[in-house]
Amino acid sequence: MEKIIVEGGRRLTGEVCVTGAKNAVLPILAATVIGANESTIFNVPNLKDVDVMEKILLSLGCNVKRMDNMMWVDSKPLDKIKIPEDLVSEMRSSIILMGAMLARTGEVVVSYPGGCEIGPRPIDMHLKALRELGADIEESHGFIYAKAAELKGCEIQLDYPSVGATENAILAATRAKGTTIIRNAAREPEIVDLQNFLNKAGAKISGAGTSVVMVEGVDKFHDVSYTTMPDRIVAGTYMVASAITGGEIVVKNIVIDHLQATIAKLKEAGSLIYYDNDSLKIVGPKRPNSIEMIQTLPYPGFPTDMQAQIMALLTIANGTSIISETVFENRFKHAEELIKMGASIKLFGNVAVVKGVKELTGAKTTAKDLRGGACLVLAGLAAKGITVVENVYHIERGYENFHEELRKLGAEIRKVE
Ligand code: EPZ
Repeated sequence: MEKIIVEGGRRLTGEVCVTGAKNAVLPILAATVIGANESTIFNVPNLKDVDVMEKILLSLGCNVKRMDNMMWVDSKPLDKIKIPEDLVSEMRSSIILMGAMLARTGEVVVSYPGGCEIGPRPIDMHLKALRELGADIEESHGFIYAKAAELKGCEIQLDYPSVGATENAILAATRAKGTTIIRNAAREPEIVDLQNFLNKAGAKISGAGTSVVMVEGVDKFHDVSYTTMPDRIVAGTYMVASAITGGEIVVKNIVIDHLQATIAKLKEAGSLIYYDNDSLKIVGPKRPNSIEMIQTLPYPGFPTDMQAQIMALLTIANGTSIISETVFENRFKHAEELIKMGASIKLFGNVAVVKGVKELTGAKTTAKDLRGGACLVLAGLAAKGITVVENVYHIERGYENFHEELRKLGAEIRKVE
């Protein structure tokens, strides 16, 4: 198993260019199966999760070509309806293929995506929305069999603004008869990116980014090319790398609007941040301030995907901070690893009380999930001595060349077998 070794104490400086958004490109790649057309997607990040999605498209019979950060998908030859079980278990978000496949073929078989490191992650809202659109869905022996002779537009009220359920409903509704209205929809920017891609292919969607999304079903899509939005979580992670080392980093290729909640909290923790619309400079403080309360919330609230990273920063803050994780049931697995490094963290259910210490010390740690892994590398950048982070594959699901980019910024870091 590969591991990252980092020697802390270096102040990071320089600039980093943010890659395309993992959580935008995955639903967009799922959407390429709907139209029996050719889709060319630019700014595709080179990530393990994108590799899995590429394998799924190929397994369904699509032609796929990939070169650097571009992916071309021809979904005309698609001739399968079953998503390979091993690929679903590798990437649970492949469940968004359900909506896309129902729109294309009216039938899909997918194994139940188990929970993962951050919680059981049920899909009840996905299935409820697809049933309301007219799909017959049976669940047996760990598989979901979904069929829809005809998808019909309807009104969907989501119990919670679930990103995946919103995406599945939009994908299925693009070819439904009539108009679908999705209320209490998730407002994440990645859903706006999905809308923009689909509309460029001929769909008729409006309202993405607000809590009411309207989809008018259409009969066909045409060939499309599209550039994915930048990854706001990767951007936020590099911002924390500057904040935690008292560094000075320019983060390029961003959408500043997507980062406002992260900017506000990093300013509260003492960073100076200057920005225009597609890049920002962040100057970290000598020692971070504590933050009285951070609550993770659906967009535009503070992102749950930045919770682990900001916790790393707050472990060395001047004072005590409180972090409330309201989105996922079990997303504090990085806390026990940070404690090995000398952090003072107490967990009370979904609330973490982080008492800042003067300095962390390097330790042998294990990444348990994607953002938790990134958090441990960030903590290692500031810790005294050597930190080892095992199970690097978690990190590579969501970060392209993470340790190389940090090395370019001055970190003493390497990846070993
Ligand atoms: C997406 O996951 C992202 N993944 C996650 O990013 C992100 O943390 C999450 O949205 C929230 O922003 C992708 O886009 C591929 P949800 P998703 O449905 O769609 C519960 C990362 O690090 N829920 O909004 O799975 C669910 O258990 C990843 O890049 C139900 O109960 O998130 C969770 O507690 C991690 N029933 C909450 O809602 C359902 O049917 C939010 O989940 C669906 C969800």
